[in-house]
This record gives sequence, C-alpha cells and structure tokens, in this order.
Amino acid sequence: MVEPIYLDYNGTTPLDPEVIAAMRPFLESDFGNPSSSHWYGIKPKQAVEGARRQVAGLLNCRSEELFFTSGGTESNNHAIKGIARSMKSQGRHIVTSAFEHPAVLEVCRYLAAEGFETTCVSVDDQGMVDPGEVERALRPDTILVTVMHANNEVGTVQPIAEIAAIARRHGIPVHTDAAQSLGKIPVDVQALGVDLLSVAGHKLYAPKGIGALYVRRGLQPEKFCHGAGQERGWRAGTENVPFIVALGKACEIAGRDLPAGMAHLQAMRDRLHRGIADGLTGVRLNGHSERRLPNTLSLAFHNLEANRILEEIGLDVAASAGAACHADTVSISHVLEAMHLPVDWAKGTLRFSVGRMTTAEQIDRAVSVVTTAVRRLHEA
Ligand SMILES: Cc1ncc(COP(=O)(O)O)c(C=O)c1O
Repeated sequence: MVEPIYLDYNGTTPLDPEVIAAMRPFLESDFGNPSSSHWYGIKPKQAVEGARRQVAGLLNCRSEELFFTSGGTESNNHAIKGIARSMKSQGRHIVTSAFEHPAVLEVCRYLAAEGFETTCVSVDDQGMVDPGEVERALRPDTILVTVMHANNEVGTVQPIAEIAAIARRHGIPVHTDAAQSLGKIPVDVQALGVDLLSVAGHKLYAPKGIGALYVRRGLQPEKFCHGAGQERGWRAGTENVPFIVALGKACEIAGRDLPAGMAHLQAMRDRLHRGIADGLTGVRLNGHSERRLPNTLSLAFHNLEANRILEEIGLDVAASAGAACHADTVSISHVLEAMHLPVDWAKGTLRFSVGRMTTAEQIDRAVSVVTTAVRRLHEA
C-alpha cells in the first residue's frame, strides 16, 4: 500500500535523520545519568549542556535561561502557572487572546480556581491580535500577557514585538507560545522582547515528549515539579538525555537551514494553494495572506463538510479538519470562531501544512486528489 502524502506537519513532524543519528548513542552506549559523578555521567552531562547551547543559539538567549520540559504543553503550564503564582501578591489578572492553543487557554481557565481572572483579546478576520487592544486590556493588577507567536491552525504570525514593547512599558512580563513558529521563521527572544517562550520538539523534527522553556534572567516563576533539583531546580526529574540531545540537534539544523528551509516551505505551500485555487471555485484562504507561517495553508471549501473531504482523500492525503460535524450539529474550532469565519465556510475548512520532506511531486499529486474529491462532493 502506498502511504498517504503527509501534509500535517503542524500536527507533528517525522524525525530528521540527523536528529536520529545524534540521539542514538544516548539510547545505546551512553546511557548514564547526567547527575552521576562517575565516568558514566560525564558524556550525558556534556551532551545535555551542549544541547542547551544549541537551543539557546537558535533562540538567541543564554543557556542558563533555558530548561528542558516534556513539550509545548508543559512549557506553557510552567510559564503561566509559574508566573501567576509567583506574582499573585501583585495581582491576579492575565491577558491572552481568544486564539491560543488549549495548552494556554485551559491553563488560564484552570487558574480561575486560584482567583485569577483572564481577559481574552479578540482577533480580526485574518487572525491578528491588535496590540492596541492588548494595551487597553491591561489593568493595574495584570501580571502576565501571553499571546502565541504563530497560530497552529491558520498560521497567522502575531505582532509579538509590538505587544511585548507595550507590556514592558507597563512592567508586565510577556510569554509567547512558539511551538509552531520555531524552525519555520526566525524566533529571537531579544528581537521579540519576550520574557518567556515555549518550545515543542516534535514540531521541528525532534521526538514527541521533549520541549523547552526560555525564562529571561531575573524572572522567577514558581516551580511546581519538586524533587531532586535537576535543571537548576526548575524542573526536577532525571533528564531525558536522548530526547534533549535530539532537540539540541533539531535546533542546530533549524538555524543552519532556516533561509533555504523557509523558501522551500513557501514554494511548496504556494504550489499547493495555486493548484487547488486554480482547479476549483468556492475556495477561500483563512488567516493572514502575508503574515503567516510559510508552511501553513488553511483553506475553506464553501458549503462542504471538512470530515467528508477528509474521508474522500484520506487514503491519499493526510491533512486535518478545522471543524467537526456530528449528526446535525457542526463544531467549529475556536480559532475559526474567533476569526468570525461564517459557518458555511468554517465547516469546510482543512489545514494543510507542508514540511522539510515535502516534494513538488507530492504537492502535484495532492492537488489532483483534493480537486477531484471536492468536485465529486459538489456533484453528489
Ligand atoms: C501552538 C501550540 N502550542 C502548544 C502545543 C502543544 O505542544 P505539545 O504537543 O508538545 O505538548 C501545540 C501542539 O499542537 C501547538 O500547536
């Protein structure tokens, strides 16, 4: 059986062969505990610190400002709960957007039980947060602003530097979830001006279950994983050395190949867009036409149901739906809802996301599969 063409790189990425090669020794011979003071601990310890430097190199921060986590969700939890709890004597108000991943929105919702209040600023119909609205949402008791760098569903890239500059003027720390942007566009914590930034390894060709959190020097989020004091006390627990090494290598590759990588992603994404838009009527792009991840293409197919399209193409193309239809109800993703996309468009939304391994030949086959399926569904 021929495998479907993988166009869901925002869901997760395959491992880069260079990443596999880098982590292999730490799955085989170099198994020691980096905290061990004997010979077996030396290489793993050096490898963890080497990986930290590689991640720091990509983010343009100091190694000491990073700790490793199990991924994007955990990093967001550490950042938001950690800052909220450490600053609660100064206030209990958080500003975020209606557009965030559940790994931010659910954390804010959870914190309500601890007396925190969250203001969700809106996004426009292209998924952009207005920095002015963030400023208007700030209150004397605001202790954190958290807005994602790039959206996972439609790819819109937020004006984080402007938002961070506003928050800084008010003395409020800023967190950004960079799970989707890292490796696809430049992510420089100094240029962005953020104080905390979340990384998810499996979106940039490292394994699932590894991530990192950047915490600007001087900030002290409350820790909530207590134990033997690894990661300088920020996150106790014996380090996942092979996966940490993998994340380091993935970051090194992302930095090394970024300009060429971005051009490739954009060429593949635009070829797919052109092919589908030229072959069909009733197709609309979701998200910002320019300020968007170079790999992400969210398309609305008018008056169709996303799950029906996925059923038609599923053996040939792997993509993801922006809405789910159950019996006679349609549940539209909170992202499309926040953009006020009309239901007759939102319910037929598919997200295609291309990656490093995507080829022009795959894109041309995907265009043919998708256009044929959509025409068939319209005729049915
Ligand atoms: C924007 C964003 N944040 C956070 C996450 C969660 O990351 P992880 O799967 O590593 O927990 C994802 C994953 O889909 C994401 O897209």
